[in-house]
Amino acid sequence: METRFKSIGIAGSGFYVPKKVLTNFDLEKIVDTTDNWIRTRTGVRERRIADDNEATSDLAVKAARKALEDARISPQEINLIIVATLSPDYLFPSTACLVQDKLGIKDAWAFDIEAACSAFIYALSVAEAFIKSDTCKTALVIGAEVFSRIVNWKDRNTCVLMGDGAGAVVLREVENGKGILSTHLGADGSRAHLLKQPAGGSRLPATEETVRQGLHYFKMQGNEVFKLAVRIMSESVITALKKGSLSNKDIDLIIPHQANIRILNAMAKKLSLPMEKFMVNLDKYGNTTAASIPIALDEASKQGRIKEGDIVVLVAFGAGLTWGATVIRW
Ligand code: COA
Repeated sequence: METRFKSIGIAGSGFYVPKKVLTNFDLEKIVDTTDNWIRTRTGVRERRIADDNEATSDLAVKAARKALEDARISPQEINLIIVATLSPDYLFPSTACLVQDKLGIKDAWAFDIEAACSAFIYALSVAEAFIKSDTCKTALVIGAEVFSRIVNWKDRNTCVLMGDGAGAVVLREVENGKGILSTHLGADGSRAHLLKQPAGGSRLPATEETVRQGLHYFKMQGNEVFKLAVRIMSESVITALKKGSLSNKDIDLIIPHQANIRILNAMAKKLSLPMEKFMVNLDKYGNTTAASIPIALDEASKQGRIKEGDIVVLVAFGAGLTWGATVIRW
């Protein structure tokens, strides 16, 4: 059988965020916090919150339609749908199957990937491998979250950080030499305790008692996570670049997971890069978990911040722990 080197890249992108804006000033009325603390400690000014009748698949479909339009393809050209999420509509069936149905796609297979804030990078890499191996031709990769449903709105340590949203890309073969050049992925389960939703799984099924204790909410050891995020994301960028025979001097734009502006400032220092090389939109949306990179990617692309031929690095870090970086020639 003839083997041919294929370049796989992003043919179109789109994002959707709910209409409802929750500002830091709104949060001042809910928990013991201030706009000043949130802005200076995190960089977030406001975030979007889904309506009561909106679930993750609804946001995902809206982002997906925009990505399909941007790629100028019909939904029927999609053979693979991956949704990266940790706030699925249901534990099962997968959100990807719900998206498939809502988009009316007949001939595709579909599944979710759970790798917390790194899930979009993981999903991109999985889709790339399937396209490279001719298992499918065109993939829809979506990061979508309604994380606000598992946030404890009485806990100022966590509720100020998060937001809801969805971003999507169409992945397919592109002109040789463009597209994904290299990817580095990693995980460290020994630090699983640092970020978790303790109840609701097989370890601790949801009961009246777990709900009373608030164990269905997201918990985080913020300080520890912060230090690890800076170190691991910076190392991941360098490792992925090396795999593609590139260095940090080649980077035109970094699109990092949007968790905290101080994490990004520290990374810029570690990587000896000016902040202008970082796409930042966490001020508007907060941390949207698996959706944060595809939202930032689409905004950067529509704002004209990425030119043809540019080297763009996506990098993420999250619960698991998980992390990953992808180097793309645009
Ligand atoms: N408003 C006012 N004060 C707050 C607050 C809020 N919203 N949240 C925490 N504080 C207080 C704390 O209670 C603490 O008070 P104390 O000193 O009296 O105990 C003080 O601020 C400092 O808390 P600390 O947790 O040390 O702050 P921090 O500088 O580490 O910032 C985070 C907290 C969560 C913003 C930061 O650790 C972070 O961003 N971590 C990583 C988050 C992340 O990336 N998560 C997702 C991974 S993908």
